[in-house]
Amino acid sequence: MSDRFERVGSTSELGDGDRLSVILGDEVSALVIRIADDYYCVEDVCTHDGQPMTDGELNGCELTCPRHGAKFDVRTGKALCMPATQPVETFEVEIRGEDIFVKYPND
Ligand code: FES
Repeated sequence: MSDRFERVGSTSELGDGDRLSVILGDEVSALVIRIADDYYCVEDVCTHDGQPMTDGELNGCELTCPRHGAKFDVRTGKALCMPATQPVETFEVEIRGEDIFVKYPND
């Protein structure tokens, strides 16, 4: 298995606190989230019961699953409260000029 970067969008699409839904490698749903001048990417699947978190509330770096209220730190993926106990997967983000690239595992 190798990793590669994929262009997923432009920085002009995201203001502070905004998110962008992307598909990595045609199969992994993920959210790119901008917080101030930093960009993060997390898999868009709650580890509690598989809910997409596309519409989850974002407070600072905490993303809340809209289904049962689990919170995740988008910087690390760490589950911050029940009912989730496992971290959500995170992906490295690289900004090249105005382009947003995300690194994801590729078979
Ligand atoms: S599915 Fe996300 S908290 Fe239950």
